[in-house]
Amino acid sequence: MSTSDAEILFVDDDRTILELVREYLAEVGYRVDVVDNGMQALEWIKAQPYAIVFTDIKMPDIDGLELLSAIKEYRPETEVIIVTGHGSMESAIKAMKFGSYDYLQKPFKLNVLKIIIDRILDARRLKQERIVLKTPIQERHRYEGLVGISFRMQGIYDTIDRIRLTGANVLIEGESGTGKELTAHVIHRMSDRREKPFVAVACKSLFKAGAINGQGERLRNVLQSAEEGTLFLDDICELTESAQGLLAQLWQDDAAARPSGARSGARLVAATNRIVKEALAKGALHTDLHACLSDVFIQMPPLRDRKEDICLLINHFLDQFNAKGGKKVLAVAPEAMDYLLSYGWPGNVIQLENVIERAFALGVELVIHIDDLPPEIKTAGEIARMH
Ligand SMILES: Nc1ncnc2c1ncn2[C@@H]1O[C@H](COP(=O)(O)OP(=O)(O)OP(=O)(O)O)[C@@H](O)[C@H]1O
Ligand SMILES: [Mg+2]
Repeated sequence: MSTSDAEILFVDDDRTILELVREYLAEVGYRVDVVDNGMQALEWIKAQPYAIVFTDIKMPDIDGLELLSAIKEYRPETEVIIVTGHGSMESAIKAMKFGSYDYLQKPFKLNVLKIIIDRILDARRLKQERIVLKTPIQERHRYEGLVGISFRMQGIYDTIDRIRLTGANVLIEGESGTGKELTAHVIHRMSDRREKPFVAVACKSLFKAGAINGQGERLRNVLQSAEEGTLFLDDICELTESAQGLLAQLWQDDAAARPSGARSGARLVAATNRIVKEALAKGALHTDLHACLSDVFIQMPPLRDRKEDICLLINHFLDQFNAKGGKKVLAVAPEAMDYLLSYGWPGNVIQLENVIERAFALGVELVIHIDDLPPEIKTAGEIARMH
């Protein structure tokens, strides 16, 4: 069936009305289709997205209310106007409850049609403009426990948004303490697997030294342990080459056994603090396993590359420690903040967290001063000051 480019559909079993409406709307400049039964109307609606459907309420096969609920199911964006006979206020009200935009009582003046149509089309245009305008300026300073306003973190939030419901496997690269494990948790929590298990496996301790027998068995158990949740493979390069190859094999066999589109088995999220390209070149990461894991690749930025996040992170950790009760630390003195901002943070976010925790443990009250910072940061700060 060919589709028209009409934006308006008028449904009524009275052909005289249809002819009048068609002529009038075409004359005032609208693209309109008319049809004299609900069945045909429904077929057309499934085939193309009308902006507005007017439908008579009383029709022989499918009546207006049935058509209305079918439209709301297939085309929730389409606005429906119910056309009622004289004095059938009750069904008009019922129709509004079913989601009709408005109702129109017969007999109606033709120019009322134009007023209704213009009002709906204007409202739709406004709504669309607002959606377009809103998207690019949506900057977030936190995302499900991940804190940071920096450009690099925005990119990570966007990636997690994009892959939320895809079930794609993810490979996370990042220096120690940059938040790889936290990111894996967030990916799980944002997905539709959030009610299923999240299992973290330290690849380093997966096999006892020298144990080669039973590798397949062990790996199979690990894969199954997360059921249909998320399996977090931490420090993936710590697995031996043979174990990595075997894991890739098991994963591919599982995937092949799955009916297409079906989702059984765990989603894999793997992390490494090595640079993936180098690990591949040196054979520390098996190419087959890399192929399984890297549907999506996330690089966690080191803290020194996102210093604008340091204040936010400090506040975040202060909130956490304050919430434990006991003492209160509300801020960092400006000179101490200078030191914290100019420091290189080789240990990344976990190091920052430890520094703030240490200041708490030292018995600081209210404000963190330079003296509450550990020696390596004080020294670096003093050297920076001398230059
Ligand atoms: N963006 C962030 N916002 C808030 N907290 C963070 C962020 N990144 C890391 N953290 C915190 O820093 C600590 C270290 O994070 P995590 O364990 O995820 O790092 P990692 O990259 O897995 O480190 P490692 O390589 O040492 O295992 C955790 O306490 C985590 O909650
Ligand atoms: Mg980790």
